[in-house]
Amino acid sequence: MATDVEREKRLAGEAAAELAESGMTVGLGTGSTSTYFVEALAARGLDLRCVATSLATEQTARTLGFDIVRFEGPDSPLRLDLAVDGADQVAVNGWIVKGGGGAHTREKLVAAAADRFVVVVSSDKLVERIAAPIPLELLSFGLGATLARLGSAELRDAPPTPDGGVLADWVGDVGEPAKLALELAATPGVVEHGLFSQELVAEVLVGREDGVERLGRGG
Ligand code: 5RP
Repeated sequence: MATDVEREKRLAGEAAAELAESGMTVGLGTGSTSTYFVEALAARGLDLRCVATSLATEQTARTLGFDIVRFEGPDSPLRLDLAVDGADQVAVNGWIVKGGGGAHTREKLVAAAADRFVVVVSSDKLVERIAAPIPLELLSFGLGATLARLGSAELRDAPPTPDGGVLADWVGDVGEPAKLALELAATPGVVEHGLFSQELVAEVLVGREDGVERLGRGG
């Protein structure tokens, strides 16, 4: 039998699949909740073009018969109608943390290109305040110096990203997420961090025991 968390993830994913319409270009997130979305989307049999945020998602989506378009190079789609993805933390102030699966760089690029970026989570992902770990993708070139500059960062025991990046986590105090996001983005050697601001997120669909709760921009 599915656990409560799995059931909530599935409910959120299924609700998000109802937002798609034939003719749309849709961004497919990474992780278990996103997989519920991708499966529910496939069951609707719509005519879609899709962009995958990871090789794992691309493989799942191709198996389910989706038309996957490349999001690389100057001829990649400029805008997506909809993108749906999971999250590791969703704070009451609207900040979100992604990248538990190490795909946050591609996930952020897809989210930023979407007219409507929808986050799907089980209720255990809701937090009062964002806390460490905050996923990081770092350049291998100069890695030692980047880690020293960051101070409170730990490398992950994980293979390189599809873009050649090194996965790590910020493990220090988060404090004000907006300030930390600026600091991390301004650190040479940091390719991308997993803090997503509320401006990126159109809505959050939270799976609950008895249905799906919709949180608008800003929580
Ligand atoms: C991958 C992610 C995932 O969306 C996040 O880790 C949530 O995963 P799950 O839905 O399996 O709990 O950001 O980089």
